[in-house]
Amino acid sequence: MNKIPVGIIGFGRMGRYYLKEFQQNQAYEVAYICDLDAESREVARKQAPQAQVVAEDQPIFDDKSIQVVVLCTTADARLEQIRKAVATGKHIIAEKPISDTLEHEWEAVQLVEQSPVMSTANMYLQNAWYHHVMREAVDKGEIGELAIMRICHMTPGLAPGEGHESEGPSFHDCGMHYVNLARWYARSEYKTWHAQGIRMWDWKDPWWLQAHGTFENGIVYDITQGFVYGQLSKEQTHNSYVELIGTKGFCRMTHDFKTAVVDIHGVTETQRIERPYGGKNLDRLIAEMADSIQTGVRNPLMPTFRDSAIASENAWHMVEDARKNDLPSIGTHEELEEIWEHRRNLKDGYGLLPRLNKNV
Ligand SMILES: NC(=O)c1ccc[n+]([C@@H]2O[C@H](COP(=O)([O-])OP(=O)(O)OC[C@H]3O[C@@H](n4cnc5c(N)ncnc54)[C@H](O)[C@@H]3O)[C@@H](O)[C@H]2O)c1
Repeated sequence: MNKIPVGIIGFGRMGRYYLKEFQQNQAYEVAYICDLDAESREVARKQAPQAQVVAEDQPIFDDKSIQVVVLCTTADARLEQIRKAVATGKHIIAEKPISDTLEHEWEAVQLVEQSPVMSTANMYLQNAWYHHVMREAVDKGEIGELAIMRICHMTPGLAPGEGHESEGPSFHDCGMHYVNLARWYARSEYKTWHAQGIRMWDWKDPWWLQAHGTFENGIVYDITQGFVYGQLSKEQTHNSYVELIGTKGFCRMTHDFKTAVVDIHGVTETQRIERPYGGKNLDRLIAEMADSIQTGVRNPLMPTFRDSAIASENAWHMVEDARKNDLPSIGTHEELEEIWEHRRNLKDGYGLLPRLNKNV
């Protein structure tokens, strides 16, 4: 079978993850890599000697042989690239958020929904084995009726001002994954939200936020997200879990970014499942896209642009609500400078951007 030629646009942290996965998937060949940054292009030439490495994306869209584009610049460049992909008939794997403003995100949704190109947004938790195991337990009735979702993700990750400015504060940039996940489990739309945030280190935006509320079907949720978890601690760690509590039982998961553990305390089974974490699950996402292209039928496991826009919209509602609820500030700008400096020198850390940290 002919390989599917791909162009990767944006060769930072995510672009490099995608390249590794494409190189291990026999269905694809990476034909182009594009990045504005000369150092990133240099890395691309070393890591993918067979690919054409370019500073502008236009040659990728002009090349009729390219079937898929992977959009992993920051969100401010996305809509224009989505317009070009739709106009030139290329399938799209887009990083989230699918654009930099809600207006642009909904325009992107309209564009792909009115076009024959197949598209997906990398809402990677929808492809995680541990969430599929838990959803299956819920569907089998193991926990009775799903009533309460408790979700938490706190890491010493992307510090304020480090990058991703077009993607908003951490509750939007990263938190939209969890806002999407809660909706995916609830199979319902958000009805209410109340949010409390805090500004850290005198930054303008909240960098920790907790939201709770209801879905249309009555399920309640709380979501806590913050890139504020011991940025300057000697040994870094994180706290990440999802609990689904039903009328009869519960299940929960946690991970250490290497192994994920699911506990099911159901009415007929008590199980502990431990398997490799699976990272960003890009192997699954690109396999689903290859399958869609080869069969001509969009694989329904791929998250949609609409899923991403809805998650983004609700995450923004929660951030806006937090701004109305006091939003205190603790910590100093000097501490933030210390964190920036520390992260620039880390060899192994959470969410380090290669552009800022030459050690990764
Ligand atoms: N799905 C996830 O779990 C996940 C995780 C991390 C980041 N992301 C998203 O992926 C995107 C990229 O994030 P990252 O962490 O890789 O950032 P990054 O800053 O490491 O990489 C972005 C790269 O895009 C390049 N770039 C910017 N504008 C460009 C343009 N117009 N044309 C070509 N290249 C351009 C930059 O030079 C940089 O090398 C962001 O939207 C981010 O939110 C998603």
